Amino acid sequence: MNGVKISAVGHYAPAAILTNEDLEKTLDTSDEWITTRTGMKRRHIAAPDQATSDLCIAAARDALQNGKIATADIDCFIVATSTPDYPFPATACIVAAQLGATGKPAFDMEIACSGFIYGLTMASGLIRAGIYSRVMLIGAESLSKIVDRTDRSTAILFGDGAGAVVLEASAENSFLSSELGADGRRPEMLCLLGGGSRRPFTAESLAAGEQYLRMEGREIFKFAVTKMIESTGIALRNAGLQKSDVNWLIPHQANRRIIDAAAKYLDMPDDKVIVNIEEYGNTSAASIPIALSEALHAGRIKAGDIIVFVGFGGGLSWGAVTWRWA
Ligand SMILES: CC(C)(COP(=O)(O)OP(=O)(O)OC[C@H]1O[C@@H](n2cnc3c(N)ncnc32)[C@H](O)[C@@H]1OP(=O)(O)O)[C@@H](O)C(=O)NCCC(=O)NCCS
Repeated sequence: MNGVKISAVGHYAPAAILTNEDLEKTLDTSDEWITTRTGMKRRHIAAPDQATSDLCIAAARDALQNGKIATADIDCFIVATSTPDYPFPATACIVAAQLGATGKPAFDMEIACSGFIYGLTMASGLIRAGIYSRVMLIGAESLSKIVDRTDRSTAILFGDGAGAVVLEASAENSFLSSELGADGRRPEMLCLLGGGSRRPFTAESLAAGEQYLRMEGREIFKFAVTKMIESTGIALRNAGLQKSDVNWLIPHQANRRIIDAAAKYLDMPDDKVIVNIEEYGNTSAASIPIALSEALHAGRIKAGDIIVFVGFGGGLSWGAVTWRWA
């Protein structure tokens, strides 16, 4: 038995909602600009006392309940996030402990918005290699905590949330291929400049806003469309699949125009592309598992369906995974 399948999925989004109309009140922007340039209408925002581990735990509990799986049956916990509770320890350690799984291995993966794609590849590999039987993979972010609310070019884009999947060993194999990549020549294109070992926080760096996410939006846009197309093409080829074999494209939800441009090139009609950006904005590593969870709850995905998960983001980084739903 060296196959892997996803046996449970869940998600969580904080209750508070930030609408385009709310943003109009504090920024020089408009619902019309945000909607036409991004497709976004609302974002869910974590409460001041809610950290990323809290979002993870809620999503994990939803997945465990949906799959009727006991926490004790999970062998390993992975959290993909760029907004951990602390620079260290890993948020996954806190999540596992809070779920009652103290003693189980738990670690974070930090590869920005590509986190879920990388995590799916790593978790599938751990299971197919026979190291673990059940792995919980959570993509979670509290991006509202690192967004500069006065910067209209980024404040409109990002939201908070978490999506969780349980992967388990299976006779049938869902994992068909993975194509991952990274190019770290210009990390500052999409980054949190301060607080790390290169630029520890000082009074001056805080005054300069280095605690906030920054981004070269136009450059990232071009990169995103190119890499979505390239990595999807390679992943399909590696799996021996044609574009026409794909039932669902589940892309990272960064911008409706990025998704539409890539989907058009990949010959994916709208009704094959899962998009929920209107409700959540960009939730980075959480966006793909939240979209998967919602599509499953809506009964859209059926056994045997071929799914392409595709993401891109800071690093720069990118990746696509092809998956046959079990
Ligand atoms: C950020 C993004 C929505 C901006 O859209 P765009 O069409 O590229 O817009 P531009 O950056 O070219 O800006 C066009 C104009 O709108 C203005 N603008 C920027 N944000 C605005 C806002 N929220 N409201 C109104 N105007 C805005 C700019 O200042 C600029 O004005 P100017 O022409 O007078 O200089 C788009 O570039 C994008 O989505 N990039 C990818 C970002 C991303 O996905 N990041 C995460 C990756 S995981």
